[in-house]
Order: sequence, then structure tokens, then C-alpha cells
Amino acid sequence: MNLKEEIIKLKEELDVTLVAHFYQRDEVFDLADITGDSLELAKKAIATDSKFIVFCGVGFMGESVKVMDTSKRVLMPKIACCAMARMIDEGYYEQNLKTMNEAGISNDDILPITYINSSAAVKARVGQMGGLVCTSSNAYKIIEKGLESGKKIFFVPDRCLGQNFAKQMGLKSAVVGDGTDLKEADIICYNGFCSVHQQFNVEDIEFYREKYPDILVAVHPECDPSVCDAADFVGSTSQLITYIKDLPLEQKVVVGTEFNMVNRLREKNTYILSSTKPECPTMNETTLEDVYRTLKSIKEDNISKENEIFVSEDTAKWAKVALERMFEV
Ligand code: 13P
Ligand code: SF4
Repeated sequence: MNLKEEIIKLKEELDVTLVAHFYQRDEVFDLADITGDSLELAKKAIATDSKFIVFCGVGFMGESVKVMDTSKRVLMPKIACCAMARMIDEGYYEQNLKTMNEAGISNDDILPITYINSSAAVKARVGQMGGLVCTSSNAYKIIEKGLESGKKIFFVPDRCLGQNFAKQMGLKSAVVGDGTDLKEADIICYNGFCSVHQQFNVEDIEFYREKYPDILVAVHPECDPSVCDAADFVGSTSQLITYIKDLPLEQKVVVGTEFNMVNRLREKNTYILSSTKPECPTMNETTLEDVYRTLKSIKEDNISKENEIFVSEDTAKWAKVALERMFEV
């Protein structure tokens, strides 16, 4: 039996669900029981009866499942951390609050919203402050809900997502530390970003528009606001897939998101919005061999601690509060 067949056999034998994000390598993605964007993966993985969730993605994704259902054992064939999620921890979070306080904004005037691409510890802090989580597919709704509080939104960690949705909603945004008056802003963003989506730029959009005047441009909201402004469609990974799949075959579309996902849409007339290969290094970490080793360790009851997600009780409690507030909306 080859590795792929071994994995399929082990999956049948074990009480396990294999989950994969769209940015995973094809060979891993093809074997998954559940695929989707961050929101869909969290919802679907929680809803399974499986005792073991083998999550092929990045750390915050596995953590979200563990936080929502601590009885599940969440294993990640490679515990790879999203570069953006690593840009903020509790210390940086508190530092930003302090900067806002110094600018004359008290904690009572702030409602924090964290993009799901953050650690459980950051989600927990947000939950303690009455805030909630959002993803790229529901950010508009969640921010709208947050604004009902009459407070300023402190949006962490992705400044681009915060700025893009503020623009879409006709609101003023500022980034902590960029010198603008924080008191003037409706949405105050933490200065984090995705290094993969930073690669896309307006010059590349102009290049494609000049070459193919009828081409459409579709990008992820983690792209810079200048790129989102110049695009025809902005959406989460799932929303991008639906948009592209619904286009007529002759319609050219250039896409600004991770390479593996765009490459899987080649039956359509797709181009990648970059002269380099925009791979997410951490998403690409997980290999078929890693998946096999993880499943085998479940079968042999020798699961490595390195591959399992653990979240302390208190952190899980508050992170769950922030996630549940999102699910309620
Ligand atoms: P989605 O929620 O759109 O899948 O995005 C996750 C992500 O990390 C994109 O870089
Ligand atoms: Fe994180 Fe960016 Fe990779 Fe998405 S593409 S997982 S935001 S580093």
C-alpha cells in the first residue's frame, strides 16, 4: 500500500476526522473529510462526533476547536503557527491598550474584536473585555454588531482587515503607532499583517488590467487596502472560490491569495496576482508523511505531546466566550 492508501485505511479504522484548510498542499487537502475557510472549519470540526480531530492548518485553527470542545483531542501533524497570529501576544495587546489610554481613550470606551488568526490567549483577553472574534467571512456583521455598543472597536491583529472593513462601512480607522489621532477613529487597528498577502500590490493589478482589459481581480481582505480598493471582488477563501467557480469559462480572473488554493482553480481562467509564488510557508509545512505518522500514533496510542493542542482551563474558558459571541451573531 502506498502512503495515501495507508492514510485512508487508518482513517476508516479510527474515530478520527481529518480537517484541511484550502491553503494546504494538494496531496493533504485531497484526503480531508472536512475542508473550508476558517469559519467553516471551526463550525464543522466542532460538530463532528469524532474523538480525534487531525487538523491540517495553522495553530490558531486547531486551538479554536479545542477551546470550543475541550473533550476532543486535537492533533496537528505539524504545529505550524500563522505568521500574523504570532505578531500579537498578551503583552503587545496590553501595550496597545496603554497607548490608547494615554491618548485619552479609557478601556470602558473600547470593544475589542480579534480576527480568528490569533492565539487562544489573545482571544481570552478579548473575551474578558466583553469582545468577540471574527473571521474574514463574517467581519462586516461582527463589526456592525460591535458598533452597537457605542464604543470604539480595537481590532487585532490584522490592520488590513480592520482598515478594509472600516472603509467598506464608511468608518474612520487608525493604526496604533502610525501617528494619527486615535480619538478620531471608529476602528483602532493593531499593527499586524499577513506577510503572504502583503506581496500583492496595485502595480501587479495595473499590469494585468493593461494586458487583459476585461480581466477581473479577486483578492482576500488580508491584502493592503490599496489592493482591495483596486479589486472587483474581495472575500474569504470560500467566498473567493464561489466567486471564481461561478464565472463563465472564458472570463479571465487574477487572484490575490495563497498559491495552492488558486492553483486548484485552474479549470477556470485563473492567474496569480504575483510574479513570485505566494505560498504560506506554515500552511505548507504539513506533508502526507506527517499525516500518516499522526494517525499511526493514534492507533498505537503513543501520541506525541508536540502534535497535540493543549489550552489551559482559564484561557479556554474566556476564549470560548469570545468565540461563542461570534457564533451567536
Ligand atoms: P479564511 O478564513 O478566508 O480561510 O482565511 C484564513 C487565512 O489565514 C487567510 O490567510
Ligand atoms: Fe497566516 Fe497569512 Fe498564512 Fe493565512 S496566509 S495562515 S494569515 S500567514
